[in-house]
Amino acid sequence: MKTKDWFTDWFNTPYYYILYKDRNDIDAQLFMKNITELLALPKTTHILDLPCGKGRHSVFLNSLGYKVTGGDLAENSIKIAKEFENENLKFKVHDMRKPFNNTYDAVFNLFTSFGYFEDDKEDLLILQNIKNGLNKDGYFVFDFLNAAYVKANLVKQETKIVDEITFNITREIKDGFIFKNISFFADDKNHSYTERVKYLDETKMKTYFEKVGFKITNIFGDYKLNKFKVETSNRLILIAK
Ligand SMILES: C[S@@+](CC[C@H](N)C(=O)[O-])C[C@H]1O[C@@H](n2cnc3c(N)ncnc32)[C@H](O)[C@@H]1O
Repeated sequence: MKTKDWFTDWFNTPYYYILYKDRNDIDAQLFMKNITELLALPKTTHILDLPCGKGRHSVFLNSLGYKVTGGDLAENSIKIAKEFENENLKFKVHDMRKPFNNTYDAVFNLFTSFGYFEDDKEDLLILQNIKNGLNKDGYFVFDFLNAAYVKANLVKQETKIVDEITFNITREIKDGFIFKNISFFADDKNHSYTERVKYLDETKMKTYFEKVGFKITNIFGDYKLNKFKVETSNRLILIAK
């Protein structure tokens, strides 16, 4: 299926997972452990992991004893995630621009899973859906890149070889977006994809959160939950109610 939305194509290909194979699941698990402890989430908490990809955070959260639902637009990823399902771990295809059918005690949006859309209205719509999908006193955990840090440390060109595929990567910031162009030759074909994430810094995100009525309770700058520092933090992690 070809669509104008880059994320529908790229995240549904096997190449996306090959390129990011080395992403650090140890870090991801440490983050989940730290955040659930900090928020003192009881084991009865029902967490929505949105978008969940192939479910790496969902599976780990479930192993900690939580009831978890994972949702993602990428059908291929959900198909794989479903292999891990159990009574307290479910996955479904869901577009986060659509309202949820259920409510949850916590919603996690992890690993730069936001800012894909042109119009600010769509960003706000997603946040509003999340807000509406939270039970009273429920938490929203938002884990995004630190745009200012990306800008100051932009790696304009890079080559990565993974599983014998040479990925040529270029990055640029223009028109309010961070672009990552990825081209490679695989399976007898040249491929080219562009990841595009909106340049959303701390100030802009705070404005978004305010607009939908979220109250920010904590701001962290990395998965160890150190304080956010605009010059040095690699993540922007907002916790809201
Ligand atoms: C950077 S990945 C992160 C996935 C997961 N949180 C993780 O850490 O592995 C972003 C995910 O967003 C999903 N996605 C993009 N647009 C979406 C939408 N409108 N609704 C739901 N999921 C979407 C993609 O399919 C992809 O799996």
